[in-house]
Amino acid sequence: MAKRTLTGTSLDTLVSLAKRRGFVFQSSEIYGGLSSVWDYGPVGVELKRNVKDAWWKSMVRERDDIVGIDASILMHPDVWVASGHLAGFSDPLVECNECHRRYREDQLEGEVCPNCGGDFGPSRQFNLLLKTFLGPVEDDAATVYLRPETAQAMFVNFENVQTTSRKKIPFGIAQIGKSFRNEITPGNFTFRTREFEQMEMEFFCEPGTDDEWHEYWMKFSMDWFKKFGIRGEKLMLRVHEADELPHYSKASADVEYEFPWGWGELETISNRTDFDLKAHTAKSGKDLSYFDDQKKERYVPFVVEPAMGADRSALAFLADAYDEEGEGKEMRVVLRFHPDIAPFQVAVLPLSKKDTLSPTARRVYDVLRQNFNTQYDGTQSIGRRYRRQDEIGTPLCVTVDFDTLDDDAVTIRNRDTMEQIRVPIENLEAAIRDQMNAMRIDCQG
Ligand code: GAP
Repeated sequence: MAKRTLTGTSLDTLVSLAKRRGFVFQSSEIYGGLSSVWDYGPVGVELKRNVKDAWWKSMVRERDDIVGIDASILMHPDVWVASGHLAGFSDPLVECNECHRRYREDQLEGEVCPNCGGDFGPSRQFNLLLKTFLGPVEDDAATVYLRPETAQAMFVNFENVQTTSRKKIPFGIAQIGKSFRNEITPGNFTFRTREFEQMEMEFFCEPGTDDEWHEYWMKFSMDWFKKFGIRGEKLMLRVHEADELPHYSKASADVEYEFPWGWGELETISNRTDFDLKAHTAKSGKDLSYFDDQKKERYVPFVVEPAMGADRSALAFLADAYDEEGEGKEMRVVLRFHPDIAPFQVAVLPLSKKDTLSPTARRVYDVLRQNFNTQYDGTQSIGRRYRRQDEIGTPLCVTVDFDTLDDDAVTIRNRDTMEQIRVPIENLEAAIRDQMNAMRIDCQG
């Protein structure tokens, strides 16, 4: 099957495709937009949901040793004192003496302002926590923070979750949710934003087994991206140098993807040791140790954390799926998503708008939508409709034509091969499953 050598494209082309086909729009666009804040449209919301569902299924539903939670974005302010975020969650900031633009110092290339060539003033640390006030009084006592990571809810709920789920160590707690950081220089579309979604899992293990679990979760993470279609040669695992480790980490590694502008982080897998549980015990006075009833001993578990960005991963899936075939007017743009990641799995297309085909096409649609995320598209020429489905990466199109009225059969067109096969409607679901299974194997990176 001719696949896997994908052409890729520039970020500008991806941004324009994303807007044109309903993946991502700029937030508050009719007011001129809000810088670096994005909204997912009807196609993009399905893509991101599929990424999150694939992660949740692999992490929680398919495993016995991980359970999920869904915690609040707002937490007690002492959480961020204990975690170290209030004192130390900052990036180095410099300001140009001429145009007063501000930059993250560690991301600058060169000594002068990229905007005007001016000199920079002294570097200072800028705290990335976003704050707001809880209740009707706006003073220090009412200040709360929008969480900068979902992880802390897993630590402060450690005992609640462990006792109610009756899990024994080693076990993990997973969560998907919004996080906020007042980034100095957001950018590269949805890659670095101030509001974003994370998929994080805290894996609690016995001290001394943590290095082994770190290895395990690094491999798991790389394999997960490949399983859902990211090409292996576009991924790398980059181990952190000692001087770039987060304050809580003994060892960290990033899964990086080669985006159109270069390599960028999708996920960090860290060995957080017993830093967080001990810090919350010290601040709250609540003992967060664990009694191992087989070993008959009490210890504070170590934590290994795979922390992934949902938006960055969705962007990587989009960038990696992009392919162009042919040239000029004949050029076909096709997103070769894995079938579990594709926003829609099937499109039902009646060949003509004529009323004679609609009842059968709607009947097919109603059956398929029970089991597959299916779109119905009855307008424009069939060629334009195929092109549209290719551009949003729908693996299979089912065409209902005038012969269908006689033979009760339809045509399935495969996105990648463009091969068309005729199948009786009664065998359609099985035929779709077969083709999607073949595509799943074909898509593995
Ligand atoms: N709990 C650990 C933690 O939050 P992190 O490396 O700072 O680790 C994890 O974040 C992941 O969250 C990143 O690998 C990235 O995918 C995503 N992420 C972090 N900051 C982001 C931002 N400003 N915009 C979009 N995604 C972001």
